[in-house]
Amino acid sequence: MKRTSRIPGFYKEPVDTRRRLLAEATDLELTEMARALASGGLDVTTADKTVENVLGTYALPFSLGLNVRINDRDWLVPMVVEEPSVVAAASNASKMIRDGGGFSADHDEPLMVAQVQLWNVSDPVTASVRVMAEESALRAMADAAVPGLVARGGGARAIETRDLGDGLFVVHVVVDVRDAMGANLVNSVAEKLAPTIASLTGGTVGLRILSNLSDRRCVRVRCRVPAASLATAEMPGDAVRDGIVLASRFAERDPYRAATHNKGIMNGVDAVVMATGNDWRAVEAGAHAFAARNGRYEPLATWRCGDDGTLVGEMEIPLALGIVGGTLRVHPGARLAMKILNVHTAQELAEVAACVGLASNLAALRALATEGIQRGHMSLHARSVASAAGAKGTEVELVADEISEARDVTLDAARRALAKLRMRHEPAAHDTSLSLAK
Ligand code: MEV
Repeated sequence: MKRTSRIPGFYKEPVDTRRRLLAEATDLELTEMARALASGGLDVTTADKTVENVLGTYALPFSLGLNVRINDRDWLVPMVVEEPSVVAAASNASKMIRDGGGFSADHDEPLMVAQVQLWNVSDPVTASVRVMAEESALRAMADAAVPGLVARGGGARAIETRDLGDGLFVVHVVVDVRDAMGANLVNSVAEKLAPTIASLTGGTVGLRILSNLSDRRCVRVRCRVPAASLATAEMPGDAVRDGIVLASRFAERDPYRAATHNKGIMNGVDAVVMATGNDWRAVEAGAHAFAARNGRYEPLATWRCGDDGTLVGEMEIPLALGIVGGTLRVHPGARLAMKILNVHTAQELAEVAACVGLASNLAALRALATEGIQRGHMSLHARSVASAAGAKGTEVELVADEISEARDVTLDAARRALAKLRMRHEPAAHDTSLSLAK
């Protein structure tokens, strides 16, 4: 069956039905899904073997992002995030992007940089010449440190030197890490090569560690959205498009705005990174360092009006993601996410995460350029406030509707609405036919 990421009405269904719909759209077994998601995707015994001083596990919502179409292929996207509206926003924006043909994406080879720091290098020019003269020997030595990676088609690709002044000197070993995130691989390479590099440079070995500025491992994503798809009840599509372009220009000129603009992108990116058991701190560090690569902090994604009047979005982002090893070895929830995605390479996964990031950015800018973020955000937030106030089952929606319509999304208001609801409908407080008639 051809996989589609369009499942209309998915959000209205109860959790069990959503799982069934997902099973139907993929080749996943319902029991497999239930097992993987029990206890938040990780049991305490496994958790205890994963990190130190474990007391228990800590679950977050595991959701499905819809409507994503990249390079003419549909993707069902697992997302793990605690913030209300991120999944809905990314899915809605992906639908608008789909109206324009979906995302297009391309990626670099999965190259990571291992850094070997030297100090006391008195003659950096000679040091550089001597290191580069041994480039192939150093690459062979690096490959010998990671034979499994070489067997999978990866390995050292280049050696580079950088003089940082005052006797500080750095050697970069550029390693193709294939489908791994690569931190352990490149750290092993850095440690293995450091003594030889020290004797070639005449320096003293300092740090030996990967760089999280993984700018050789970027993904570029683009989309075109028909202006009509951006329209709201109050604003025509071309006005919304122009508002989004202005929002982009604001971020391009102002680092204060760029930080928030990029946060909106990372809402989507991180949710995919988390779901797939990847290292979101590494991704965040890389993304923000990349955003500042031109000497000032800039937006990762920009928006313009195309010649044909469509809204054109573009983003480039470094993404060091793996589909083998690490958390995936031990975390059933992350393994389930990988099965849902059905990616074959780490680069495919990076493209999906980047596209969800661009969709999240579009959703945020569209909301900000029209009615503002608070109404939509608050109406979703209202559901968690309603639950926190003690609402159960269908009461949650009813209380949430009441407090968001009253624009009073507080615990007190939710408690009052719940008490009112229960008073009206005692004793059948959980009956699905209830409504909060005013
Ligand atoms: C909130 O999580 C993200 C936004 O602030 C992003 C933005 O302002 O572009 C809405």
